[in-house]
Amino acid sequence: MKPSPLLLATVAALPSLTTAQSTSCPDYSSFSQSRHEPFSSGRYALSSARPSPSCRTFTSPALEALLTNVSASISDPDLARLFTNTYPNTLDTAVRWRGAAASDPAEELTFLVTGDIDAMWLRDSANQLQSYLSLLEPDTKTDSIAGLFRGAINLQARQLLTSPFCNAFQPPAESGIRPASNPAADTDAVFPPYDKDKVFECKFELDSLAAFLQLSVSYHEATHDAAFFGRHSWLKAVRALLDTAGAMVAGTYGPKGEVRESAYRFSRLTTRQTETLANDGVGAPVRETGMVRSGFRPSDDAGLFGFVVPANMMFARYLAGASLIVDGLGEEGVEVGGLAEEMRAFSGRVVEGVKRFGVVHVPVLGGNGSGEAAVETVYAYEVDGFGSAALMDDANVPSLLAAPVFGFLADTDAVYRRTRARLLSQEGNPYFMKGSVISAIGGPHVGPGMAWPMASIVRILTSEDDGEIVSVLKELVASTDGLGLMHESINSNNASQWTRQWFSWANGLFGQMILDLKFRKPHILQRSFQ
Ligand SMILES: *[C@@H]1O[C@H](CO)[C@@H](O)[C@H](O)[C@H]1NC(C)=O
Ligand SMILES: *[C@@H]1O[C@H](CO)[C@@H](O)[C@H](O)[C@H]1NC(C)=O
Ligand SMILES: *[C@@H]1O[C@H](CO)[C@@H](O)[C@H](O)[C@H]1NC(C)=O
Repeated sequence: MKPSPLLLATVAALPSLTTAQSTSCPDYSSFSQSRHEPFSSGRYALSSARPSPSCRTFTSPALEALLTNVSASISDPDLARLFTNTYPNTLDTAVRWRGAAASDPAEELTFLVTGDIDAMWLRDSANQLQSYLSLLEPDTKTDSIAGLFRGAINLQARQLLTSPFCNAFQPPAESGIRPASNPAADTDAVFPPYDKDKVFECKFELDSLAAFLQLSVSYHEATHDAAFFGRHSWLKAVRALLDTAGAMVAGTYGPKGEVRESAYRFSRLTTRQTETLANDGVGAPVRETGMVRSGFRPSDDAGLFGFVVPANMMFARYLAGASLIVDGLGEEGVEVGGLAEEMRAFSGRVVEGVKRFGVVHVPVLGGNGSGEAAVETVYAYEVDGFGSAALMDDANVPSLLAAPVFGFLADTDAVYRRTRARLLSQEGNPYFMKGSVISAIGGPHVGPGMAWPMASIVRILTSEDDGEIVSVLKELVASTDGLGLMHESINSNNASQWTRQWFSWANGLFGQMILDLKFRKPHILQRSFQ
């Protein structure tokens, strides 16, 4: 099903490909919606969904070797096809432009589109590259995976310095690519104001800041290239990021009861409650908790309460992680002042806030019918510091389900275990979709009834249970509607109803999960999924 404009809250600005190979290459938006031979030999006869070699947006011999190697260790023909289609998807289709900054030819830039929307999201692009961590090694050549990472970090730094409250950006001027139009943004009233030639959408999402830090930490850990971070505007971007997040910590009311000026406001003319913020663009009132208030969720939807707990978890985790990069710069003689200490202190306050206000007492599911209901502690998805909480999860990462994936806690953590059990049940999560085709967490972004493969993937990444992993993986293999790619969402009872045919992040994450299984549970890749 072609996503209706209504389902695509983030607005499909249809790409007009202008990359070097564009003239003879099919638009991947339409290419990915039809099936291409040769089909896989299993019962699902999955399409060959990779563009032809000359139409790929980035090629890497290491990637091709990995695809060959890993497919050889997958016994099921449909699962193997799904892996070879999905894992390379970002490199095959989403590296829209690479080049250098006009102001500094040594500053690499990578403009990475999310897929079917011609703009670069901080979160999506960081996650899209994150899939290729196993291919990332020190390499000074621009034409390398390391070069792609550096280019994305540099461009994200520029984006953060341009409009630190915004989440999605237009092509850099150097690319010569025309800015995409975003009709939904035509009615935006946003403070601070932004430039439409540079920004595609300006929803303040804490996880966008966390994504920049995560991408930086990943590159640093894999390459130990601390010097890179002192070369361009990374330190300035971290400063902007701290100031931005810092401005979103305060509670709504001051000591005399006065209403504080919000550092960020967003409102839009819309019929969707999730596309604008309450209280004239400020959102629901909050009390100071140590956590950072986010305008929107990782789904780009407005939330119910200001503190998105998983976004704060991820932010705290990578703020502390990135402080080590700053330490490294200090050791190289770069003047960093007390920046690393400031980052660690901020991270510590957020962690405290999560533990104190993000964990709530809730009645045990089902109760036991004997008088007072038993209670247990679980993580809430959102809180306001006054005691109100949203008990749910949303499929987009960072989700609560993904907390061990981004390293905030161990998957053995008792509160996490209880939270996870609730989130994967119809009783404990209003956005858990159960169905005959696929059962998975969804979210308000596409709405009830639509399960998100991304959440199924995260479920596998956070499971030690072979039975659970196999049944979830089986649903993923069976529910691509023959197209052999990860959709954004699928009607949990009808595999031919889905949204987004080209969602690079989910594709990469699927591949990442297969690599994780190859390492953790290789026997599962030997099974049949027919
Ligand atoms: C895949 O790579 C690993 C490690 O590099 C190697 O030991 C293994 O033999 C390779 N497998 C195949 C099927 O090529
Ligand atoms: C039911 O809940 C009550 C209140 O928490 C508790 O005291 C009691 O032991 C529970 N009964 C059973 C059978 O679990
Ligand atoms: C599933 O969705 C397709 C496409 O909308 C529709 O044609 C078909 O009738 C649906 N199947 C069922 C069983 O509802």
